[in-house]
Amino acid sequence: MIFSRIVGCGGYLPKKILTNNDLSQNLDTSHDWIVGRSGIHQRHIAADGELTSDLGLAAAKEALQNSGISPKEIDLLILATSTPDNTFPATATKIQSKLGMGSGLAFDVQAVCAGFICALSVANNFIRSGQSKTALIIGAETYSRILDWNDRSTCVLFGDGAGALILRSEEVISDKNELGILSTCMHSDGDFYNALYVDGGVSTTQTAGYLRMQGKEVFKHAVEKLTAAANEALGIASMGIEQVDWLVPHQANRRIMDATSKKLGLDINKLIVTVDKHANTSSASIPLALSVAVGDGRICSGDLVVLEAIGGGLVWGAGVVRW
Ligand code: ACO
Repeated sequence: MIFSRIVGCGGYLPKKILTNNDLSQNLDTSHDWIVGRSGIHQRHIAADGELTSDLGLAAAKEALQNSGISPKEIDLLILATSTPDNTFPATATKIQSKLGMGSGLAFDVQAVCAGFICALSVANNFIRSGQSKTALIIGAETYSRILDWNDRSTCVLFGDGAGALILRSEEVISDKNELGILSTCMHSDGDFYNALYVDGGVSTTQTAGYLRMQGKEVFKHAVEKLTAAANEALGIASMGIEQVDWLVPHQANRRIMDATSKKLGLDINKLIVTVDKHANTSSASIPLALSVAVGDGRICSGDLVVLEAIGGGLVWGAGVVRW
């Protein structure tokens, strides 16, 4: 049987750091309020002219370097983003060209903060069905461009960044104790379209619009749906929570992460947290957190890692990976 093995990861954060104290200079907010409600201390902001494709390209280059794979070997590039460079073509095709892939297929997926799990799931299915041998999946976002910087209930929560993973097809005899993607699951419920959305768009206002959110509503669904998705993905992989080495959740809010870990019965020390330094980077948050935890030696080969995310739609899902 064919398995998707993870062979490298990378991340990129823009140089400019905006702290909570910086924000409180022009906004009626405080460091203590933001940390207490979200766990966020700072976020990175893309420079003028620095685009989602630039962030994604930098993360992809680091993942390629860490895996020792040449861009020419990549036959599938999936970019998860809800802040593309242009309405079309897919920003993935710009990254394909800048990387010098030469051939293969590149496209974007749009599942907001759940975008990276969606890209992972699609790439895994391409590999398992034999349509791809080496896939590059990227989450890259410039949310600073769709924030209403006068709306203190949303603008303090987000940041810019990118992360990338490389998956490789591998023939295995059984799926027991193999390294790679053991399971994924995805769901959506469009009845909650207005819980988290951008109030503009090509077909509605012909503008990019600004992010709007019913914070309490999203919070409630996040804890419940993330817990259910993680348990579902563990069930598909025939694994129990006691076997999990690391939980790498979408980095939206420390309180959501803590509540989900508690509901899952997971030791809080197994939670990877980067939201304090990165804030919510939407589809980039999981691969960025992975690149930090692999880089500092916490996530090691053979570790069982659960990934989970929820975002606008609502769309949510999880994946179980043997690193
Ligand atoms: N600074 C100071 N005060 C603020 C701020 C701020 N930045 N933002 C809101 N407030 C005020 C409100 O105006 C309100 O004041 P009032 O009582 O005088 O009316 C008060 O704080 C409480 O506001 P609430 O919205 O009720 O605050 P809540 O406790 O719900 O916290 C938060 C807001 C942090 C957004 C919370 O609802 C939350 O964590 N929601 C989850 C949403 C999330 O994480 N989304 C990320 C995107 S979705 C995703 O990625 C999954």
